[in-house]
Amino acid sequence: MSGNILVVYATKYGSTAAIGEAIASELRIVGFDVDSSPVTERMQSADVSPLKSYRAVVIGSPIYMGKLLVEARDFVKAHQHDLRERPVAVFTVGYSLKEKSDDHLRSANEAVGVLRDFIEPVAVGYFAGSYNPEVMSLSDRLIMKVVGGVPGDYRDWDEIRAWARGLADLIPE
Ligand SMILES: Cc1cc2nc3c(=O)[nH]c(=O)nc-3n(C[C@H](O)[C@H](O)[C@H](O)COP(=O)(O)O)c2cc1C
Repeated sequence: MSGNILVVYATKYGSTAAIGEAIASELRIVGFDVDSSPVTERMQSADVSPLKSYRAVVIGSPIYMGKLLVEARDFVKAHQHDLRERPVAVFTVGYSLKEKSDDHLRSANEAVGVLRDFIEPVAVGYFAGSYNPEVMSLSDRLIMKVVGGVPGDYRDWDEIRAWARGLADLIPE
């Protein structure tokens, strides 16, 4: 496998960033050149068409209050024309996804819907996130407490790495 892939992610407390970096590492292992960064860094790029050199793009965002972080949508909206010309895979991260019930997957899929206004992803990954009250703002901590969240790191690295390896088959030579 060869060619450049871009992995970008929105994140508030870093758990989605670590998933994005794990995906980037796995893609490097299977032979791609991979650039990875927070989506906000790419948005600050002065290059008007910074995606032209990539064969494929992977975009990730956590879910907060049923929605992706706005910067993930902003990135997709701003780059929709470049993105539509290449395979784009999306992954989303949420506390609820520690249990992949039909309801939880439906809600996560609805959150991803905000990107489908602009692109049609070739793959969507649904990953459990991490809930660590120690790193959260007071208001975020309170919300998680009210909804009965149980602190823990629910990220399944084997699942994440397997999903990343599967992307290789979706990227045409
Ligand atoms: C205020 C708040 C709201 C959240 N809302 C949702 C939600 O609607 N659905 C969900 O599955 N997870 C929800 N989560 C859990 C986060 O998606 C999860 O902690 C994720 O790993 C955070 O990613 P980050 O560390 O990259 O910011 C919420 C967390 C907080 C603090």
